[in-house]
Amino acid sequence: MSSDASPLTFTGFGGLKLAAEGFGNPEQPVVLLLHGGAMNRRVWRDAAVALAAAGRYAITIDLRGHGQSEWAKDGRYDLDAYAADLRAVLDQLQTRPVVVGASIGGYVAMAAMADGGSALASGLVLVDAGLTMEPGESQRVSEILRRHAKGFDNIEDACAGSAELSPQHRASSPESLRRHMRQDAAGRFYWPWDPQFLSGVDNAALNALQGKVSDLKIPTMIMRGEDSKVTTEADIANLRALMPSAEFIQVEAASHHVASERSDVFNATLLEFLERRLPRAPITYEAGSDARTLRDAMGCFGTGVVVATTRGAEGSPDGLTANSFTSVSLDPPLLLVCIAKSARSLAAFESSGSFAVNVLHIGQQLDSARFARRAEDRFSAAEWETWETGAPILKASLASIECDKHAWHDGGDHIILVGKVRRAAFEPRRDPLLYFRGAYRRLHLT
Ligand SMILES: Cc1cc2nc3c(=O)[nH]c(=O)nc-3n(C[C@H](O)[C@H](O)[C@H](O)COP(=O)(O)O)c2cc1C
Repeated sequence: MSSDASPLTFTGFGGLKLAAEGFGNPEQPVVLLLHGGAMNRRVWRDAAVALAAAGRYAITIDLRGHGQSEWAKDGRYDLDAYAADLRAVLDQLQTRPVVVGASIGGYVAMAAMADGGSALASGLVLVDAGLTMEPGESQRVSEILRRHAKGFDNIEDACAGSAELSPQHRASSPESLRRHMRQDAAGRFYWPWDPQFLSGVDNAALNALQGKVSDLKIPTMIMRGEDSKVTTEADIANLRALMPSAEFIQVEAASHHVASERSDVFNATLLEFLERRLPRAPITYEAGSDARTLRDAMGCFGTGVVVATTRGAEGSPDGLTANSFTSVSLDPPLLLVCIAKSARSLAAFESSGSFAVNVLHIGQQLDSARFARRAEDRFSAAEWETWETGAPILKASLASIECDKHAWHDGGDHIILVGKVRRAAFEPRRDPLLYFRGAYRRLHLT
C-alpha cells in the first residue's frame, strides 16, 4: 500500500490558505483529521496511511497559524475563526466526511457542528477533547511555547525545547526537526506556529458550547487517554451526558496525545467504528426488506417542502405537510402530491373538488412542523386567505398554487392526488426550505 500523500490547499475563513494532504483514493469516503494546538497535520500520518489502506480517503490539514497554513494577519485564533475555517473546508469538499479532531481540533469540530452544522459531516470522533481544558497542563505547554516564541539559536536547542514540550514533539534527529522548523535570515529556528494562537481558545469559549453540542445527529465517538492531564474524567463525563448517543472509549497507557502515543489502538478503534457505524459499502434495500431502509434510500432525493391544503366536508380548513410534490405537466398545467391513506386529512382531500399547494420558504420550518404534528390546531397559528376555490392559501409562502382536483389514483399505501392549476403566485426573493435525509436543510450558494 502506498503511503504517498497529495498536497491540497483549502481556503478558510477570510480567504486564509490552509495546507493539507490527501492519502488514498479521493473517490472513497472522506475522513478529515484535525490536529491539536502546537501540532501540525503530520501527527496523523500513521492514521492517514491506515485509513487509506482500509479504503478511506484521509485528509490531514494544518489549522490556521500551524504548520504550513497561513497565519491570521488579524491575530484571530478564537474558536469561531477556526470553526469558520472548518465549515469553509467542509463546503469545499462537496461530500460529508467523518471529522476526527484531537484536542483543539476536537473543540473546533464541535464548534463548527454546533447550531445545526452537523449536517456538514457524516460522523465525528473527538480525541481527548472535552468542554473544559484543565488549566495546569495547558499552562505548562503555553509557558514553554511563550518562552521560546523568539526562536532558538541553533537546532540542538530547538531539539531540547521540543522534547520539553512533550514526548510527541521530540524529534528523531536534529535533521528531521530542521525540516519542520522555520528558519529566518539570521539563522534562528522557530516552531511552525504563530505564537498568537496561544491566546485564542479558552474555557469560556468551550463552555459556550455546552448547550449546543447535544443535538449532533451523527454517529459520534468520544476517546480519552486514561492518563490525560488536559481532559479529565469529569470533563468527559460532562460531555457524554450532553451527547448520550456518543460511543466512548478510554485508551489505556495514553495521555493527551492518544493517536500518536497508542497509534495501534487508536487506528484499530477508529477503523472499527467507521466500518460499523459508517460502512463504505452502499446500504442496500431488497424488495421485502425493512421499510426504514427504503425510506432512507428515498431520502437521498432532496426536495422542497409544501403544505397541501383543502376544505373538509363541513368547510373547515385542513391540510398536511408533504414533500412528495412534483410538477407533472405544463400543458395542461398539472401537479401531484401523494397523501398517505393513513392521513387523517385524506378524507377532506377526497371530498373536496379543489386544493392548494403552499411551497415553504426557509423561514417556515415551524409551519412545516405544525402541519406534520398530530393534534395541533394547524390553522389558528397560520395566516391564511382564500382565492377562488376556498382552499386555504398560507400567506407569505414561497409559492402558492391553487388547483382543481384532476385525478385520484391509487398508489399503494398513498393516494396520488393530481391537480390542474388554476392560479399560482410566487415570491422571487426568498430561499426554499429543503428536506434531505430526514432533516431540514438550507441552500448553500457558493
Ligand atoms: C418534511 C415532511 C414531509 C412529509 N411528506 C409527506 C407526504 O408527502 N405525504 C404524506 O402523506 N405525509 C407526509 N408527511 C407526514 C405528514 O405531514 C404527517 O403524517 C401529518 O401528521 C399528517 O397529518 P394528518 O394525519 O392530520 O392528515 C411529511 C412530513 C414531513 C415533516
